[in-house]
Amino acid sequence: MLPWFASLALALFSAPAAHGTCITDKAAAAADKIFDYIIVGAGLGGLTVGNKLSGKGFSVLIVEAGPDLSWNPEVFNAEDRVFQSATCNWQYPVLANNGSKLPSTIDSGACIGGSTSINGMVWYRPTKAEVDRLETLGNPGWNWDSISPHMKAIERNHVPDETQIAQGAGVDPAVHGYSGAVNTSFPTPMRIPKAVALYKQALPFAFSGLTVGSDLSNRTSVVSASTSWTIWYDSATGKNRRSSAADALLWSPDQQRDSLTVLANHTVDRILFSKDMTATGVVFGSKSVTKGKMSRVYAKKGVVLSAGTFGSAPILERSGIGNAVALKAAGVKQFLNLPGVGANLNDQPGTSTSALIAEAFRNDTSIVDGRNLFGPQISLINIDEIWGASASIYSNELISPSALRSRAQALVEAGAAANIDGAEAILNTTISLILQSRLPVAELLAESYPSVISAIFWPLMPLSRGHVHINSPDAFAPPAIMPRFLTDEFDQAVAIAVARRTRDLFNAPPFKNVVADAYLDPPISRNGTDEEYLAWLSKTTSGASHWIGTTAMMPKKLGGVVDERLRVYGTKNLRVVDAGILPFQITSHTMSMLYAVASRAASLILADA
Ligand SMILES: Cc1cc2nc3c(=O)[nH]c(=O)nc-3n(C[C@H](O)[C@H](O)[C@H](O)COP(=O)(O)OP(=O)(O)OC[C@H]3O[C@@H](n4cnc5c(N)ncnc54)[C@H](O)[C@@H]3O)c2cc1C
Ligand SMILES: *[C@@H]1O[C@H](CO)[C@@H](O)[C@H](O)[C@H]1NC(C)=O
Ligand SMILES: *[C@@H]1O[C@H](CO)[C@@H](O)[C@H](O)[C@H]1NC(C)=O
Ligand SMILES: *[C@@H]1O[C@H](CO)[C@@H](O)[C@H](O)[C@H]1NC(C)=O
Ligand SMILES: *[C@@H]1O[C@H](CO)[C@@H](O)[C@H](O)[C@H]1NC(C)=O
Ligand SMILES: *[C@@H]1O[C@H](CO)[C@@H](O)[C@H](O)[C@H]1NC(C)=O
Ligand SMILES: *[C@@H]1O[C@H](CO)[C@@H](O)[C@H](O)[C@H]1NC(C)=O
Ligand SMILES: *[C@@H]1O[C@H](CO)[C@@H](O)[C@H](O)[C@H]1NC(C)=O
Repeated sequence: MLPWFASLALALFSAPAAHGTCITDKAAAAADKIFDYIIVGAGLGGLTVGNKLSGKGFSVLIVEAGPDLSWNPEVFNAEDRVFQSATCNWQYPVLANNGSKLPSTIDSGACIGGSTSINGMVWYRPTKAEVDRLETLGNPGWNWDSISPHMKAIERNHVPDETQIAQGAGVDPAVHGYSGAVNTSFPTPMRIPKAVALYKQALPFAFSGLTVGSDLSNRTSVVSASTSWTIWYDSATGKNRRSSAADALLWSPDQQRDSLTVLANHTVDRILFSKDMTATGVVFGSKSVTKGKMSRVYAKKGVVLSAGTFGSAPILERSGIGNAVALKAAGVKQFLNLPGVGANLNDQPGTSTSALIAEAFRNDTSIVDGRNLFGPQISLINIDEIWGASASIYSNELISPSALRSRAQALVEAGAAANIDGAEAILNTTISLILQSRLPVAELLAESYPSVISAIFWPLMPLSRGHVHINSPDAFAPPAIMPRFLTDEFDQAVAIAVARRTRDLFNAPPFKNVVADAYLDPPISRNGTDEEYLAWLSKTTSGASHWIGTTAMMPKKLGGVVDERLRVYGTKNLRVVDAGILPFQITSHTMSMLYAVASRAASLILADA
């Protein structure tokens, strides 16, 4: 037996995580070095994969264009984020359908944690029907049974207490995980409970057949319910704190990894390849630190692009991988023809209507409160709840093979799809989810702002598509993003119908005393023309921030960019793991699905290691 001091010394020397994860902005930590894996982007996808690969002892470098803002309350306090803040935000320029630059910009996370450091934190699950469609589209192994366990594993739900339940929080215990790294819960105190109660009473007046349930993650029957957020209540400070991918998988003391290095403030320009298109490393640099002087770093086992829907496709294009026309226009020599790169861009086109709150209620914090905890009551609405028996007018059009073909043709002509067969396969997936599975086609969020009560809404599974491409070979130049919102007539019909119904919502009896003017914004009557509503929608619509699709996972012949193991077609040791791989929109906000996608991706990478 060893004397007590010897065993103490042994315990000390064998203690793991003597240093922990290295987060640095010094290029020397990476330049000319060799790692097992290089991951591009420290957002949701990159941090999930980096955490899992380094957890198995592989040396991993994550290169992130933005800074570490762990000290910034706008990032760590759930309620402190300023609306349209430039903090941790790429604020990408956005193009109208005619190519002219719009005054608005697109929000996207630009610091460690990626978009999870700035997002709306709304957490709920998609349905089995839509997740199973990934497999039907030609991606063996991607279905609810393989994905949902990962969704459960990442979540640590804190069930609401009695006070929270009395103020509108609901939970169905079976649809949550309880031992994961990402906290989900309701805020303390709850937000605008009286407004939420009024919405619940008024919703059935606007959408007949809509049932109000308790938990939005329970997608078997519930279409309107309270949601949870990726937050936790810190009783020490009395604040609701954000649980971002960085909080959960990088900064947390119990997630430290000697084998993980995160290089902040450095942008990845392009991928390095050997002659047989094996990815061997990346070229990176920093505009501010090194004035754009570029360095190289090498990967023995693989490169993973997790730069997001607007980041990964441009890196492929700067590396010579993509659509011939786009590469030529940007002045980049093509090495690999993959026409799907940057096509199929999709987000939900969101806008809102507002009613003026009667003076007597404007200072009532149970109805109006400016805290940044978005959408306390969310409704998911299908075509029957919008149109009743008239829904058949829309379903007959959607189901027609000639309509499908002309939709697909229009996407190809607009550069929003790689080919007709691929466009048909993607559109048909969404159409059968709408018609056969009767999944919701619109989302409506109850909100309030100083003096107004609002209905934020968007078509949930749009058929419209846009594109993103580089303008030049410059790694520091923003890409050209053309969302092409509401270009499909079905998306227009959904948006117009839901806009009208929100007027019925604010005119419903439960709001009688609280609402002073149901038609405050837009100043269009209930029965204004479709043209009036459409003109207003085209002016006010912006993305719901669930951008997907530009490096779609599907068969190559359909215009896919990655295969079912997330490998970029025509290359070796190169993968994409981020929102860009989802080929079609899902009916939940993206996080729950993407954590599961990234976690499953890490398992596939480890299986191939
Ligand atoms: C404002 C906003 C609100 C949202 N609200 C919600 C919500 O309430 N609920 C929900 O579920 N989802 C929400 N989302 C969506 C969700 O956050 C994203 O879908 C998800 O984070 C995408 O993960 P990702 O890995 O694809 O990209 P990200 O998490 O965005 O990470 C990409 C990372 O790559 C970095 N990067 C980009 N280019 C380069 C480069 N060339 N070199 C190095 N690094 C690079 C970026 O800086 C970023 O850190 C919201 C998003 C936004 C922007
Ligand atoms: C990155 O750059 C910012 C300034 O843009 C700086 O504040 C920060 O310290 C740098 N390093 C890291 C690791 O974030
Ligand atoms: C292009 O479209 C935008 C937005 O719809 C519009 O404001 C602008 O006038 C158009 N420009 C041209 C040249 O048609
Ligand atoms: C989902 O909601 C329905 C209706 O409210 C309920 O009957 C069912 O038990 C719930 N399922 C779970 C798993 O909680
Ligand atoms: C999750 O919540 C617990 C408190 O219940 C807290 O200690 C922990 O730091 C939180 N984790 C993250 C990743 O936010
Ligand atoms: C509401 O609060 C504002 C600012 O505190 C005050 O000016 C206003 O008079 C109040 N209105 C009512 C109806 O109490
Ligand atoms: C569209 O989907 C339906 C139902 O899944 C299927 O029967 C039909 O063959 C598909 N059509 C095309 C053109 O892919
Ligand atoms: C609007 O049209 C609907 C259906 O056509 C009709 O029932 C309703 O009375 C009209 N409302 C107004 C305010 O004109």
